[in-house]
Amino acid sequence: MTDAQQSPTAAGSGASATQSFLTTEMYQAVRQVPPERVDAVVRAVLDGVHQAIREHEVTYPEFQAAKAWMIQVGEGGEWPLFLDVFVEHVVEEVQAATQQGTKGSILGPYYLPGQQRLPSPATLPMREDEKGSRLAFTGQVRDVDGNPIAGAEIDIWQADDEGYYSGFAPHVPEGNLRGLVVADDEGRFEIRTIQPAPYQIPTDGPTGQLIEAAGWHPWRPAHLHLIVSGPGHRAITTQLYFRGGEWLESDVASAVKPELVLDPQDQGDGTGRVEYDFVLERDEATAAA
Ligand code: DHB
Ligand code: FE
Repeated sequence: MTDAQQSPTAAGSGASATQSFLTTEMYQAVRQVPPERVDAVVRAVLDGVHQAIREHEVTYPEFQAAKAWMIQVGEGGEWPLFLDVFVEHVVEEVQAATQQGTKGSILGPYYLPGQQRLPSPATLPMREDEKGSRLAFTGQVRDVDGNPIAGAEIDIWQADDEGYYSGFAPHVPEGNLRGLVVADDEGRFEIRTIQPAPYQIPTDGPTGQLIEAAGWHPWRPAHLHLIVSGPGHRAITTQLYFRGGEWLESDVASAVKPELVLDPQDQGDGTGRVEYDFVLERDEATAAA
């Protein structure tokens, strides 16, 4: 472990998010973007930058400050953090235009594949003294016609009660509050976990400095991350939020949708209970095969 990874700082979580990204399959696809697309999209991005410079009469010192900032984002390994907070939601919006069923949301920088498979009913791996109020989350995975999907899986990950993700904060044990929950033959699942805390973009790195310099706030509302999949169906990457939660109306990552807000009820035993069903559309690629 490097020094940067030993405390839950921007440098630590940024560097590990960059490491994690560079080992994903998603990154391998980069080489397949055809030149016409690169030309069209990069040209449009540059046009937007040029336009902003003209409109705001950007000065040389401001240009050099922006250059220095971008160098720092790269050196701190913060590009995954920055892009997932400020850009990914629009990519998701474009994809959502062709997707039916449960609403999607951004993946974010903290997904780690290959977690423990946990048959439902499942309790996510957690520390003996894991802080936070208990949450029991039940539901069913169905297709767009209402049929249960046997063999559905819910890949779930979340921050702890202090807003830290395992794998990206050295004081949190590996695999904590992450799991691949396998639903029953009727697509039903029950997941016991704790309610996560709001997440704060690390304020000690370049992304945090930019947020402060612009007078924005660095918070995301408390959320669960999920990738819900089923044989022959298109997987959905999404997030679930909590009614009344702080920052719900002003998520720094613009990733909240009203359909994705849970309202757990405590019936007096200290556990918030909530039901939420997922709907997946058929995967045309698989269906055709
Ligand atoms: C970031 C962190 C998250 O937990 C998330 O869901 C999205 C983005 C980030 O720091 O970039
Ligand atoms: Fe998150």
